[in-house]
Amino acid sequence: MTTRMAALNAGAIDFLTKPVDPIEFMARMQNIVSLAEARRQLAERAEWLRQEVDKAVRELREREEEIIHRLTLAAGYKDPDTARHTMRVALYSEAIAIELGLPEDRCRDIRLAAPMHDIGKVGIPDTVLLKQGKLTENEFRQMQRHAQIGSDILAKSHSSLLQLAAEIASAHHERWDGQGYPNRLAGDIIPLSGRIVCIADNFDALTTERPYKPAWPYEQTVQHIIDRAGTQFDPVCVAAFRRALPRIQEIMELDRQQRAQEMADEMNGASAA
Ligand SMILES: [Fe+2]
Ligand SMILES: [Fe+2]
Repeated sequence: MTTRMAALNAGAIDFLTKPVDPIEFMARMQNIVSLAEARRQLAERAEWLRQEVDKAVRELREREEEIIHRLTLAAGYKDPDTARHTMRVALYSEAIAIELGLPEDRCRDIRLAAPMHDIGKVGIPDTVLLKQGKLTENEFRQMQRHAQIGSDILAKSHSSLLQLAAEIASAHHERWDGQGYPNRLAGDIIPLSGRIVCIADNFDALTTERPYKPAWPYEQTVQHIIDRAGTQFDPVCVAAFRRALPRIQEIMELDRQQRAQEMADEMNGASAA
């Protein structure tokens, strides 16, 4: 009896007592083989289910990314400069997030959500959005509404990616010293994603030509941002931005090459037609 208890405790599932009866032996063996087979099938089924869940999650994620991409495209139709701007801002933001040491998937989510930071511009009248030249005070106030409009468009989504996009849309014009908009948040109260995108957005706006100003040189823009650490920008994010500069320069160069290619394609298309 004590041997049986010890064997059960050790994981035995069956016993044969000597002398062994061949018929009983065969029946017991068949039971054990059937049990092993049932266990194997169960494990296979569990593995199949796990793979199906992974696949469904991946598909859901891809759809979320596609929605973001298509919304960004829609905004790009209203203002063609916006499409390239948003993509560069996304890549700069990811580079800063990486230098801040954020987890890999968070950096990726910031890259995916950042292109929508200006989505609220769809709610701004064209006379203001596309105006060539400096905005009046009243027009500037109208333009500022894009942060709140963007947040309103995105915030009620159940998708965590769209919620992050809403956070960025709402916070990317807040300033570290509390003098930004729309909510005059200050310091750490501003979501980190917004503080990151704010730097990327300003860097891109300054280094590219706008209707009211020429493109600033790279060095001047970097210095401008460094000078505003602690007033306009989060100093920790500015430090990460400085570390990210080699990657940021790579992104700028790649963008320059892509634009040159697009222009060449357009000219070839025009001469072919
Ligand atoms: Fe903006
Ligand atoms: Fe922007």
